[in-house]
Amino acid sequence: MRSVSLLLLVVSPPFVAVNAWKNARNALSTPSDIQDGQTGVLMVLPPRQTDTGTKRIPDVDHPFIAPGPNDQRGPCPAMNTLANHGYISRNGITTFEEIILGSQEAFNLNRDMISGMVAGNMLTRGNPFVNKISIGGVSPIVPPLPGQIDGPETQGIAKHGRVEGDASMTRSDVHIGDNRNFNQTLWNTDLEILAQFGDDGPDGPATVFNLQTLTELVRQNLESDQLLDPEVYPTLKSGPLALKSLKFAVPIRRLNIVFGTTQQATKHIITSFFMNQTFPENWFRAASPVLGSPIPAQIAAALPEWVPGHNDENGVFVADPQAPAPFNISPGCANYWDVLTNAIPGPLANVTGVFKQNVDLLTGILFNGSGCAEPIAPAGPTNT
Ligand code: HEM
Repeated sequence: MRSVSLLLLVVSPPFVAVNAWKNARNALSTPSDIQDGQTGVLMVLPPRQTDTGTKRIPDVDHPFIAPGPNDQRGPCPAMNTLANHGYISRNGITTFEEIILGSQEAFNLNRDMISGMVAGNMLTRGNPFVNKISIGGVSPIVPPLPGQIDGPETQGIAKHGRVEGDASMTRSDVHIGDNRNFNQTLWNTDLEILAQFGDDGPDGPATVFNLQTLTELVRQNLESDQLLDPEVYPTLKSGPLALKSLKFAVPIRRLNIVFGTTQQATKHIITSFFMNQTFPENWFRAASPVLGSPIPAQIAAALPEWVPGHNDENGVFVADPQAPAPFNISPGCANYWDVLTNAIPGPLANVTGVFKQNVDLLTGILFNGSGCAEPIAPAGPTNT
């Protein structure tokens, strides 16, 4: 099952400002839209936060509370952490706006970057008509898309394929284990690699994740999954091989969000987010809005032998097809082509009313962040 990278899609400020205004205006004037018994909820792009400095996180209004048995949690340590602290709904069923606001507040994430991430996930694994997405699996609170145009259930971000992929740092591959919950054995292996390659830091010798550690983590996970999982599909995007965009670069890039003001990915900090899914004590969010990082490209450059692809039915690694012209002009554009063509269900191109307004907002965010000259309509397979 192919999965794709949503992090390369980051929007430009003028586009989102115009759309925010249009949506705020429409929210006032749009009559209720009922489709297949569901009431549409118009999405409104939240403003950029005005307070963009550092501050202590969590504040007193957001204590850690462990999830209850009916709360959804899934493969993303960041979303789980936000839910465990109530920066998004503690039940794990959240919205476009809530994730953007929570990520700005708690991680000081650049609004346009997080908008692109939420847009891709909402279009592939949420219900963009009612504006709900599960950060775990199927939930009775998130209905199937009207007309069940993507199958009888809305899956949530833990569903393998489209976004969730193999060879993660702390989750098993879906074909050989639990792809949703933290895996202590995998984490122990990660820490062994850290102990070999890490920098010295406040937690002791070889306890800070550096580029070499991250590169070796990627190499080790890709190599072991290639052996262990005959159906492995580790990469997130297709596209020109020269672009060398690897799935692993994506979560690794996200790691720099969790450094906070220490500017160091220490063992203690990373363990808190990955294993305990909570903010470390005395943690301060970054001192300015977090956007990107050179780390993914550096890791990819260090691993030229790994190109986007997957194992075929005989367990032989096959490279993904490259994006065709004119979508091969940049990594971002090739990735946009991949997401729209292979991940976002095709029937979303033909929806109406509030459903269409929301899909247009989300696909517009992806297009505007892509660097492509022309947009593509969603054309991915359904019910996968
Ligand atoms: C706030 C910024 C975010 C950060 C710091 C972050 C961090 C991470 C990290 C570190 C992983 C990899 C875990 C591992 O390899 O074991 C991950 C995986 C994932 N995240 Fe997030 N994430 C963020 C936002 C989001 C959002 C907004 C969504 C969707 C609503 C999302 C959905 C996912 C999914 C589906 C995976 C699994 C991908 C895979 O299988 O490779 N993330 N995230």
